[in-house]
Amino acid sequence: MNQGIKTLVLLLLSSAWAIALFAIYKGKTAYEKLAPISLPSINWEQLQHEPNRDEIVKGKKLLEKTYEMLPDKVGAKISCTNCHLNAGTKANAGPWIGIIHRFPQYRDRSGKYDTLTDRINDCFERSLNGQRLPEDDPNLKAILAYMEWLSRPVLPHQKLKGIGMPRLALNREPNWERGKEWYMQKCASCHQKDGQGLIDPSTQSYRFPPLWGPNSFNIGAGMARLHTAAGFIKHNMPQGQEGTLSDDEAFDIAYFFSHQERPDFAKKHLDWPKGNKPKDARY
Ligand code: HEC
Ligand code: HEC
Repeated sequence: MNQGIKTLVLLLLSSAWAIALFAIYKGKTAYEKLAPISLPSINWEQLQHEPNRDEIVKGKKLLEKTYEMLPDKVGAKISCTNCHLNAGTKANAGPWIGIIHRFPQYRDRSGKYDTLTDRINDCFERSLNGQRLPEDDPNLKAILAYMEWLSRPVLPHQKLKGIGMPRLALNREPNWERGKEWYMQKCASCHQKDGQGLIDPSTQSYRFPPLWGPNSFNIGAGMARLHTAAGFIKHNMPQGQEGTLSDDEAFDIAYFFSHQERPDFAKKHLDWPKGNKPKDARY
């Protein structure tokens, strides 16, 4: 064989190798993008080094002390992180890690594509029984800056385990009386028998948030729905003993507290304009 052909064969062989290796690499990364991974842990140390750290920290504080810092915007006596636990980093408690990649998102409740700002304001109006923040509100910008920072460890198309609120639906009617009995045993020590929560006298702020009544979320909130409330408490309550409720207990307790007297939602007639109303919708 002459030298030219030898070189050509070698060249062809090595490029075949290169193509094969590249294909394996591409396949692997594509696979990694598809398979859901656990929520990454957040490196709080890193926050100190961010150029916009003051805004990010302000956003975090607003989410943790919402009713205290924004009394004109919030009707309830609860804060965002009373449900989005551990500053929005806990799996199965509506975590905000990677949240900026999940919006805009089509939602049946609004019948349109909602931006992250729309979604945040939904929780202001419903979960906090309050008002929407205007687009140019510096507080809204700080909240978005914090959520953007929390989303940095996640690739845009990466699927994550434990996002959203878990749901629990059983194939039976919920039982109010049993729910009440279990609530008194497992929840009342913190949230109180009357569900109104408990104020810490030393700080004058709520140590245990209210679960119903005038200071709680309104009837339009996700937590007012049986399946969402049941899924949330199954994974997250009683605090310190998470995961100890049976499905039956979670279902009946959720019915008992979520269907108590709570504020109405004036704009409820606008929800699910194109149908697809979930089974446990309140109206
Ligand atoms: C009473 C409990 C509660 C409170 C308080 C609350 N939320 Fe929510 N939030 C929910 C529930 C329930 C959902 C719906 C999750 C789902 O659709 O699976 C949700 C969803 C969200 C989402 C979308 C999450 C996702 O992964 O798609 C964002 C963003 C959000 N809330 C922000 C906030 C902000 C900001 C506040 C404070 C102004 C707040 N929430 C207060 C219960 C609450
Ligand atoms: C040891 C005290 C404790 C017990 C017992 C407990 N909780 Fe909680 N619960 C809390 C605290 C504290 C929060 C707020 C979490 C935060 O801000 O990090 C909370 C938050 C909540 C929330 C979301 C916030 C809100 O106001 O709606 C719901 C719903 C809830 N608890 C329901 C229950 C139910 C139902 C039980 C019984 C199965 C229960 N909890 C038992 C301490 C407790």
